[in-house]
Amino acid sequence: MSAMPAMSSNDAPRERRRDFPAAPDKLSDTGLTGDFVRDLLLKTLYVQGTRTGQQLSEFVALPFGLIDDELLTLQQRRFIEVRGTHGPNRGSYIFDLVGEGRARAKDAFEASQYVGPAPVPLLQYRERMEIQSIRHAHVTQEVLREGLSHLVLEDGLFEVLGPAVNSSKSIFLYGHPGNGKTAIAEAVSQMLGGTIFIPHAVEVDGQIITVFDPVHHEVIEEGPATPGTEGIWLRKDSYDRRYAHCRRPIVLTGGELTLDQLDLQYDPFTKLYQAPFQVKANGGVLIVDDFGRQRVPPRDLLNRWIVPLEKRMDYLTMHTGGKFPIPFDCLLIFATNLEPAELVEEAFLRRIHYKIPVNNPTKAEYLLIFQRVCENEGIAFTPEALAQIDRDWYRGHRIPPRACHPRDILSHVADIAKYMNVPARLSTDLVDRACRSYFLSNEQDHQG
Ligand SMILES: Nc1ncnc2c1ncn2[C@@H]1O[C@H](COP(=O)(O)OP(=O)(O)OP(=O)(O)O)[C@@H](O)[C@H]1O
Ligand SMILES: [Mg+2]
Repeated sequence: MSAMPAMSSNDAPRERRRDFPAAPDKLSDTGLTGDFVRDLLLKTLYVQGTRTGQQLSEFVALPFGLIDDELLTLQQRRFIEVRGTHGPNRGSYIFDLVGEGRARAKDAFEASQYVGPAPVPLLQYRERMEIQSIRHAHVTQEVLREGLSHLVLEDGLFEVLGPAVNSSKSIFLYGHPGNGKTAIAEAVSQMLGGTIFIPHAVEVDGQIITVFDPVHHEVIEEGPATPGTEGIWLRKDSYDRRYAHCRRPIVLTGGELTLDQLDLQYDPFTKLYQAPFQVKANGGVLIVDDFGRQRVPPRDLLNRWIVPLEKRMDYLTMHTGGKFPIPFDCLLIFATNLEPAELVEEAFLRRIHYKIPVNNPTKAEYLLIFQRVCENEGIAFTPEALAQIDRDWYRGHRIPPRACHPRDILSHVADIAKYMNVPARLSTDLVDRACRSYFLSNEQDHQG
């Protein structure tokens, strides 16, 4: 980690703190009611047993100064008691439930089993997403070229892809398999720098929706807050801990995606909701990979996004039937190796503004990919090997060259050499064996 910049967040004037959620000073800053926070504390004590004030504060992700008022109220109501202390201040006091409090905690569990960091009300979530919107992330020519430098792509692709990424809307990548669609989508996601704050949970009409998901959200414990906060170094205690400070999310879904996964997932036992993929992707990128391979017809899947894409707002349904609006703030990337015209009608495809073909490599591009893979694998490149593959396979079996072939063929060469206990090199024999085990010998050029 680099040295700490001169100015720390704690010295920053209050109004400059808009770029990150400042730790709440008082209950009203949280947007939650005293009842809600007290129930959360009771439930925490119920599942965790005795806890110090400081431990409770960390668990519910609210400053101790703020929860202490609620702890006092709970003591006065004889819901909790102090059982001892580890030190002189109330943060070190050990709290425990007593009779009435235990009954109250059980009632609170009936309503929702949620225990954990206090949620952020929907309104605050919306404001936060607006501040850290994906629209504030953009790429320049240099960033795009650098971020895709591990791939060999035609110049024309960069010219369309850059503006498409900066639209912060949707991109449709299509082309034959193995030419880098998934690799491009992932690389684009990674180059959208900056960090955002993702709430552990959002509260809507008293219901809890868990949003933070360690599978999709990469936490940054301490570091510079971006965008627009150069010089502000975030310490753990300087921001609202109800949020996790994360990289912009990258959520990748594939052929397993179903329509109901795009709505709230309700668990009737815990009475909790899981946020759908697009909410987890807010502030980042949602990749719908292998589009058209889902069990849902592509038309329905595309239809699902049209309104959210245009309004930048999605509507989710609670199990009670109530609907509420939630930000739809991600760059949506579809990737497919199916023919776009066969997937959906033009009228639908029109809604996805940027359609980018990812073509088979030219001869020169193929050569460059092959040379690079050789270098990475530590296998000496020979033009003869390339000529052999071209003659015997691309022309011999009329197989169209794909950008992934060099990587795949050379890994076969390495595997076979290891098995034969000989150094990996591009001998006629090894190349031939590699290709025989990689290509289907009856592959035809109907693949395009
Ligand atoms: N243009 C390229 N330059 C260099 N390497 C590439 C390129 N395209 C693909 N590769 C290599 O091939 C691998 C597979 O590519 P990728 O999975 O991105 O293809 P795809 O277009 O998504 O294929 P599919 O349609 O089958 O999903 C990449 O991880 C990379 O190693
Ligand atoms: Mg792919």
